[in-house]
Amino acid sequence: MTSTPTINDVAKLAGVSTTTVSHFINGTRYISDDLRERVEAAITELGYRPNSLARGLRRGESKTIGLIVPDNSNPFFAEILRSIENIGYANGYSVILCNSDSDIQKEIAYTDLLFAKQVDGIVFIATNDSCEHLQQLTDAGIPIVVIDRDIPLIGTDVLLVDNFQGGYAATRYLIELGHRHIACITGPSKLTPSADRVNGYKKALAEAGIAENPQWLVAGDFQFQGGENGINQLLALPERPTAVFACNDMMALGIMRGMRKARLSVPREISVIGFDDIPLTSVVSPALTSIAQPVQEISRLAFELLIDRIQNKNSVHEEKRIVLQTHLIIRESCKQYGE
Ligand code: RIB
Repeated sequence: MTSTPTINDVAKLAGVSTTTVSHFINGTRYISDDLRERVEAAITELGYRPNSLARGLRRGESKTIGLIVPDNSNPFFAEILRSIENIGYANGYSVILCNSDSDIQKEIAYTDLLFAKQVDGIVFIATNDSCEHLQQLTDAGIPIVVIDRDIPLIGTDVLLVDNFQGGYAATRYLIELGHRHIACITGPSKLTPSADRVNGYKKALAEAGIAENPQWLVAGDFQFQGGENGINQLLALPERPTAVFACNDMMALGIMRGMRKARLSVPREISVIGFDDIPLTSVVSPALTSIAQPVQEISRLAFELLIDRIQNKNSVHEEKRIVLQTHLIIRESCKQYGE
């Protein structure tokens, strides 16, 4: 029977002082990346769980949860942050809001910080598909709920929307308006929401007997400027599409600015549909047709899944995987083809 690892064992294995290990765990002093990595590696290798941390985690003493999103300037994520913070506050939890700014190194720094702050659990939206840094947290007994973007993290609950169906429904709607020359501006290809939406777009085209035109599948980035750049690329083609599915609303808004700059009309020349249904969609002119994500339900369920794991830490948990439905919100940015 191996003895329970102590802080001394961690310090010895990492080649640092016990004081350094203590500061790492409690976040009470800056530690260089090199020392941080050595301490983390030793904690993971030994399976060390500091008494105060273990005790805090078992009883949720910190009553604090972490929330990491990739871009808090995007209204979709801002809504998620706001909703989860409201729910947490109403239930006596403080929420540490972290913006990874789509930077993996910043995301790793925030997961370290939340570990050091001894949060009871984390709601997490990934900036890309790597998750070794998160595996260490779940292995250390910190519950994580992954939402929005699917990643291969073991031992967590996952809450997504059916992005394939959403992309299919957006494209199907344009086809039913009579469009056959339909372009798609994608999000980052490595992110599951974008990849699934694009596959839904392709499925709808195929079902309608519409051949894909590679020139009308444009790589975007979920950013406003990416949408404007995408429509400029499409407008420069000898054969323009009559409709565009943007894989999120921020790019759809960028498309609308690009159309204005080109002195073209949405939807008269080109119909545009987005994804997320952020609040801005009903404010812009023409009001944007979009695929709505159930943000309030996502936020509520994410919190409930996390609290269940926190409050039942010593129970055996089956990993839950919940997929919510999106729905089409028709406004003014798409019209019947040929009218
Ligand atoms: O607008 C940001 C996008 O990234 C959303 O569609 C959301 O699903 C996230 O993955």
